Amino acid sequence: MKVELNGVWLPRAASTLADSVDTAWDVVYWMSIVFFVVIIGAQAYFMWKYKRRTETDVTSDIDHSTAVEITWTVIPSLLCIFLFLFGFYGYVNASVAPANAYEIQVTGQKWSWAFSHPNGKTEAGELHVPKGRPVKLIMSSRDVLHSFFVPEFRIKQDVVPGIYTTLWFEATEEGPMAIFCTEYCGTDHSAMLASMNVMNEGAFQEWLNADEGKGMTPVAMGADLFAKNACLSCHSATDATVKVGPSLYKVFGRQEQMADGSTLTADENYLRESILVPNAKLVKGFGPIMPAFKGVLKDKQIDAIIAYLKEQK
Ligand code: CUA
Repeated sequence: MKVELNGVWLPRAASTLADSVDTAWDVVYWMSIVFFVVIIGAQAYFMWKYKRRTETDVTSDIDHSTAVEITWTVIPSLLCIFLFLFGFYGYVNASVAPANAYEIQVTGQKWSWAFSHPNGKTEAGELHVPKGRPVKLIMSSRDVLHSFFVPEFRIKQDVVPGIYTTLWFEATEEGPMAIFCTEYCGTDHSAMLASMNVMNEGAFQEWLNADEGKGMTPVAMGADLFAKNACLSCHSATDATVKVGPSLYKVFGRQEQMADGSTLTADENYLRESILVPNAKLVKGFGPIMPAFKGVLKDKQIDAIIAYLKEQK
């Protein structure tokens, strides 16, 4: 998947939260620069001014100054309090979603992102959202810790198995944006990408209510789903390369040696079960590591993936 971050210094700011995050960052950045210059400058000046120039030079007799002590305690303290309040305000704002937010379920699993909309529409690898409307993400993981990061929105949150975590945003710009996983989660962590497709309200409604795969053959739809659900990261389909999972090239009708010593012929029912409940029957030599797609993929999508696999012959 191609990921592009627009922007030179920071990625483009594309949500209502982004500006306050950038302002906080800029304030800390410029404060650091000012203090660096002032402190290092004074140090350099004193090194020159108080350098021992002759053998008879004696150390200046400087006692402590209460005024200086108070100044360099009070000013940094005030700055720290200001930074805290500034950050805390932004944090609270970013933590509490508006009550009318559009809610989307997000599921992280090794190594892909799946999304489910309130009307039952599901998608993976790509998330369509409306522009100019608050969106709340309710997120969980099926296996290990992941982290959902959208740099252009300046939002990031861990995605944890067994509990829900949330994020919210209101997009201010249209177009595709990168979604990253930013918690190391195994072999293909760095490939655990998705794209955020921000659309205007009209286009979003049209997409939301469109009949999925309309005008696509089941094989084409299956190929699309195979790529979007990151099946590719563990299974080859167009050649016999063995990755983390068995190659699915020529899988249909194949005699499979199973881990329990039995043999079976890969037919539609076996493929379906292996997608929905992968650990029910394991191929010899492979561990129970594939995430279950039960509740993620709909019947029509499973049919399409099976149709695609039947074509890989
Ligand atoms: Cu998921 Cu890293």
